[in-house]
Amino acid sequence: MGDLFDRFGRKINYLRLSVTERCNLNCFYCRSGPLPCYDQQKKELQKDDFLQIIRTAAGMGITRVRFTGGEPLLYPQIVALVEETARMKAIKDLSMTTNGILLPKFAYTLAEAGLKRINISIDSLQASRFKRITRGGILDSVLMGIETALDAGFTPVKLNIVLLKNINEGEIIDFVKMTQEQNLHVRFIEYMPIGSELVSWKKYFVPLQKVIEVCKELGKLIPTTGEHGGPARYFRLEDSVGKVGLITPLSRHFCDSCNRLRVTSDGKIKPCLLSATEVDASAVLREKNPLPLLKQKFREAINLKPDPSRVANNAVERAKQLDGYRKMNEIGG
Ligand code: GTP
Ligand code: 5AD
Repeated sequence: MGDLFDRFGRKINYLRLSVTERCNLNCFYCRSGPLPCYDQQKKELQKDDFLQIIRTAAGMGITRVRFTGGEPLLYPQIVALVEETARMKAIKDLSMTTNGILLPKFAYTLAEAGLKRINISIDSLQASRFKRITRGGILDSVLMGIETALDAGFTPVKLNIVLLKNINEGEIIDFVKMTQEQNLHVRFIEYMPIGSELVSWKKYFVPLQKVIEVCKELGKLIPTTGEHGGPARYFRLEDSVGKVGLITPLSRHFCDSCNRLRVTSDGKIKPCLLSATEVDASAVLREKNPLPLLKQKFREAINLKPDPSRVANNAVERAKQLDGYRKMNEIGG
């Protein structure tokens, strides 16, 4: 099996599967619209369909898989899905992005099933603010989830914080301090106008230069690297165990090194997070011999990955380039 390259010479080896759109939180920036997200059950692929998709992609050059959502731990067959994916020899890196609420129940089982890495979203360390952002979430459940993930041996545990103007900007230092004694990778993320209006995006967008300015107050910032490639640029504070990451899709994009394809819970392959283009893989899953047809769908999707040289490097211009109708809970980040 050879490597997989797109038209611009980028090696494509990473598949992100959003296994469900449902979520047990309702973060206002991720998914606007009526509550609760939990009841909104669209057509989700069955485990064996996801496995067929992963196996096909693995046979073409995909070596890394991440399960996302919605909240992936709400997908009824998630443990079996992890277990069977972990058994595929071609898959060297198996990870999940979760809101952490269900990790006290699942972390050990997932570790046993073969999951290697976990990224957890947590946008505030203040219970009342957390509740407001997530429209009802309980901060302590997530903190317990992080604790359990560390206990279960996931390394590293990465925390995702979408920085939002006039909402959680004041918590940068509190988050960064978490890296001082624990092997956590605390990553700040620029808010992307996905499924939201530009007006609302402008209201909340903070360029992450702000994090660097605030962190300088804490001491010297030492540039460092992430272990898994990926969109984050990292630094750490002197004497700290963990790292701080910056994910800047708008103020400084990373499309030149994009190695990803996405699959939605209803079986559409997305060549790019920030574009509406999709290739329908679900249609061929019911065919007698879906393998060659699925391969063709993957090739189509790879050929549709957008030209990175056309991506604006100015946040407002970049925001205007985004197109798409799906909300983030339908894509999985
Ligand atoms: P690893 O590097 O494998 O640990 O994962 P990750 O950081 O890419 O995954 P995660 O699901 O934790 O995503 C963190 C943030 O990065 C989310 O806000 C994602 O939407 C964003 N992100 C991930 N991949 C891409 C991408 O290809 N393009 C853009 N613009 N943003 C991305
Ligand atoms: N912009 C940036 N990140 C987002 N996420 C969800 N919606 C957005 C958005 N509009 C983050 C979540 C999660 C990750 C998968 O994507 O907080 O950590």
